[in-house]
Amino acid sequence: MPAAPPYLSLRPLLPWRDMDRPLDWTRVFGRAAELVVELGCGNGELLARRAAAEADRDFVGIDLDWRSVRRALRRLARAGVDNVRLVASRAPLALHRLFAPGALSEIYSAFPCPWPNQRHLGRRLFAGDFLRLCANRLALGAPLWIVSDEASYLDWVQTQVAGSGLELAGRGGAPKLDTKYERKWRGLGLAGFERLELVKRQHPEVPEPEERAMKFHWLDDCRPERLALTEEIGRRITVSFKDFIYDQRSHKGMLRTVAVEDGLKQGFWIEIGRDPDPGRPAWRVRLAPGCGVLPTAGVQRALDLARDAALATRGGRD
Ligand SMILES: C[S@@+](CC[C@H](N)C(=O)[O-])C[C@H]1O[C@@H](n2cnc3c(N)ncnc32)[C@H](O)[C@@H]1O
Repeated sequence: MPAAPPYLSLRPLLPWRDMDRPLDWTRVFGRAAELVVELGCGNGELLARRAAAEADRDFVGIDLDWRSVRRALRRLARAGVDNVRLVASRAPLALHRLFAPGALSEIYSAFPCPWPNQRHLGRRLFAGDFLRLCANRLALGAPLWIVSDEASYLDWVQTQVAGSGLELAGRGGAPKLDTKYERKWRGLGLAGFERLELVKRQHPEVPEPEERAMKFHWLDDCRPERLALTEEIGRRITVSFKDFIYDQRSHKGMLRTVAVEDGLKQGFWIEIGRDPDPGRPAWRVRLAPGCGVLPTAGVQRALDLARDAALATRGGRD
């Protein structure tokens, strides 16, 4: 018999990319209950403990790292809790996609990656735009709390709060959470972790990325092996082409793309390849199957720019 997979059960994992937006959580959990979200849930131990202790609430753990999600799945299976679901995704995309305004009773995060280096400022999760999104998804009066070992990170989060709809409710010593990272930092001799608590006081409007049918492109001629990586920084939308991988045998190229708009960042692949349909022009530029992005104006702009980049490869000699 094959050994049990390391995650034991996939049951709590949501195949959210194929589900309606926003998700109908009463259907997911089979009941109407308060909904709590943990951002960066890591190995899921706090999630599992809280779900067991607060059985009348439903919990959603979000983490972008599959190894963490796998560990969390194992932990949830062992804990036998049924009021938790896991979402493998970047937190902003999941919050945008899965929750209606005002749907959440609490959002929290234990030891989010602090990115203390100024160079990595853009990677910090709790920036102003994201705080606005959290506020939009929280019910009025509901808390967002963060525990961190980096006081400077919490200082920075506080600078981001103005205009988000959240208000500072308190900051002080954190109660013991006993998570993996807390133990890790304690093991290194750190102590005195802090908890920053914000509360939703006003409901900020957050632009929802517009859902639209994506328009793909067809070209008569193209020389993908010459494709140049470009970037367009616009007022509302920024598109960057990061890598291009081309397979000469299958005449298929994959363009790794990042589109940022209204605080939403999406990474995906655009396929530039021969169209097998003889009734069509020879080359097509389309979203690579299985990417599961929100079909926003930014993604469409990326497709249009990929077409332009492919068109620019035509003509001339090798
Ligand atoms: C320092 S670990 C803390 C894990 C856990 N909360 C703990 O205390 O042990 C940070 C976690 O956040 C996740 N993470 C970082 N950035 C994220 C993002 N933008 N969206 C979702 N998860 C993220 C990482 O994969 C990692 O599991």
